[in-house]
Amino acid sequence: MNTYEIIEKKKEGQKLSAEEIKYIVDGYTNGNIPDYQVSALLMAICLKGMDVDETFNLTNSMIESGNTIDLSKIEGKKVDKHSTGGVGDTTTLVLGPLVASCGIPFAKMSGRGLGHTGGTLDKLESIPGLSIDLDIDKFIENTNKIKIAICGQTTDVTPADKKLYALRDTTATVNDVSLISSSIMSKKIAVGADCLVLDVKVGSGAFMKTVEDAVELSEMMVNLGEKAGKNTQAVITNMNQPLGRAVGNSLEVIEAINTLRGEGPEDLYELSMELAEKLLLVSGHSKTEGEARAILEEKIASGEAFNKLKELVQLQGGDVSYIEDVSKFELSPKFELVSEVDGYVKGIDALGIGEASKNLGAGRETKESELDLGAGILLNKKIGDKVSKGELLATLYTKKENAEEIKAEVLKAFEFSNQEVGADKLILKVIKHEQ
Ligand code: URA
Ligand code: CA
Repeated sequence: MNTYEIIEKKKEGQKLSAEEIKYIVDGYTNGNIPDYQVSALLMAICLKGMDVDETFNLTNSMIESGNTIDLSKIEGKKVDKHSTGGVGDTTTLVLGPLVASCGIPFAKMSGRGLGHTGGTLDKLESIPGLSIDLDIDKFIENTNKIKIAICGQTTDVTPADKKLYALRDTTATVNDVSLISSSIMSKKIAVGADCLVLDVKVGSGAFMKTVEDAVELSEMMVNLGEKAGKNTQAVITNMNQPLGRAVGNSLEVIEAINTLRGEGPEDLYELSMELAEKLLLVSGHSKTEGEARAILEEKIASGEAFNKLKELVQLQGGDVSYIEDVSKFELSPKFELVSEVDGYVKGIDALGIGEASKNLGAGRETKESELDLGAGILLNKKIGDKVSKGELLATLYTKKENAEEIKAEVLKAFEFSNQEVGADKLILKVIKHEQ
């Protein structure tokens, strides 16, 4: 096989074979094919596209480039959730305990935050004592015991994706449906869950700017999941503002705890319920959405979902007294941002808030950056809220000296209107395989 001819073929818009795709992925991963040839091929893929078969073959080749995780020793149908990168998105910490309290195994390998999006592992580490370093045997044992475990990734899955993603990032070839979906789905399939729910964000700061693009991406990912034998659904959700009110590690843990107690912000509750409902459906636990919803509401009302979080924290070595009394979380010094105008909140740029939160110390600039787990932003106003001049818009928590500068950044993320603003829909579309 010949790399030049493969590039030429895709340039002409022809379909690549499984062997050709594997040749490129293997050759690139082991260093035999140079960046410039793969860059040219990636650009040809962006311009000419790949069909479902090609995308599936690319996904498989990337899975085969590294280790996979065998979770077959976990009893029952294991579920997993993936979000395409929200701001203030604490759904994992809500829906994990929620579905586990229904008896569904939630064995989650999570990541750290980078740039404007947070990571579940960092959030969990704001609970004193809690360890996310579980080896695979412990991870499986814990999941069998209490139906939930959350840990960091220990083995090297999909090294091809890491290398390709870095190259895409510098060659303007990130935004392609086949490349994004194979990148996401290879990682999800490699870590071993039986069924999967995807939360595909639309809006500022999201990969997909329009619902049409999000539908295309979701359909491709659902197709890939189903072809790999995993029941998959996708939910397309609005990212016209951060999710919930809290953005930052300790702040989001507190928000997740409140939500599991039935006292959280409405949008975070609604999205967690929607995704949990889909997990009950894809795992075969419930037959209808109504049935699933009733079960989940009961788990919140009875306190079982909240208790499941306590069990998780306990089993992973965390101090449960923080879960019982959230005032124990130590937050950084606070700064209040007040409105300079009268009006209604029309939008809150999620990307802008994510960046500001990172600058306050809640996120990482590079992989090596130190985090301030007590830093972040609480939004006192959200879309549709009326505000008066001098009224509190947001509270910033930080140890940084340039808090005043960052206040201006947060203010810039708010968009106001003179007229009343209706609340936007959060759940925009559900994509299932039958469709
Ligand atoms: N997230 C990923 O993991 N890969 C992509 O290509 C885009 C988003
Ligand atoms: Ca939040």
